[in-house]
Amino acid sequence: MRILDTKFMRGFIKMADDGFQQGWHERNGGNLTYRLKPEEVDEIKPRLGEGNGWTPVGASVPGLAGEYFLVTGSGKYFRNIIVDPEACLAIIELDDKGENYRLRWGLVEGGVPTSELPTHLMNHEVKKRVTDGKHRVIYHAHTTNIIALTFILPLKDEVFTRELWEAATECPVVFPQGVGVVKWMVPGGRDIAVETSRLMEQYDVAIWAHHGMFCSGENFDLTFGLLHTVEKSAEILIKIYSVVPGKLQTITADNFRDVGEAFHVTLPEKFLFEKPDCEIGQRT
Ligand code: 13P
Ligand code: ZN
Repeated sequence: MRILDTKFMRGFIKMADDGFQQGWHERNGGNLTYRLKPEEVDEIKPRLGEGNGWTPVGASVPGLAGEYFLVTGSGKYFRNIIVDPEACLAIIELDDKGENYRLRWGLVEGGVPTSELPTHLMNHEVKKRVTDGKHRVIYHAHTTNIIALTFILPLKDEVFTRELWEAATECPVVFPQGVGVVKWMVPGGRDIAVETSRLMEQYDVAIWAHHGMFCSGENFDLTFGLLHTVEKSAEILIKIYSVVPGKLQTITADNFRDVGEAFHVTLPEKFLFEKPDCEIGQRT
């Protein structure tokens, strides 16, 4: 089958374009990776190139040895993916140690995989393990309102989770495990990859202070939908705090317990701390 006609490729391109349309991918901002299923690799194998030598990943991911990934290219613009996927995207193969990759398709005008490859692959490795192989998509976007929130809220998992949950009733159902927050760090390297993948052990969402967000999911719809929901909630919070210093009323800890019961989701008690009535001073 032609690589560009495969379902996973069409889903990947649509998701990238949806993200661009939302305004989350200025210039080359953001990156997206997908771990191919064995049958998808078989389907396209006759059309893959030989590979042009191995390049270090910049991290060690033995749990992903031999796997294939569809990834965005470093410096490539999300807005161009839909018109020229072969120039903007790559299919890479990992070696039998999970330490090096080689290019098997794409980047026809030159280039390398996203500079956030260490974070993507370390996240994939964690998620493959903790979800029994179900999660296949890692998505990084420069989501405007989440970035804005990282300037006004304490950079704590508990605070971000509780604030995001309070902003929209569906949130605790969509991300019941909550969200993790990484303090400001230099992007593109192994250190930030280690911090982010540590959070991915328990969360599907990791916020990078003053930078953006990473989400993990089973497929393109669920991963996009998760990031979209978190960002929408952040937008509501930014609107609230643009108008008043604190909320007049909100969803309470007991309300969340009722939501958890009604929707059969377990909400960790560490996010359901008691807060005095709705004042900005309580956002600690
Ligand atoms: P890349 O173009 O290398 O993917 O980098 C974009 C980005 O968002 C870095 O965090
Ligand atoms: Zn980024």
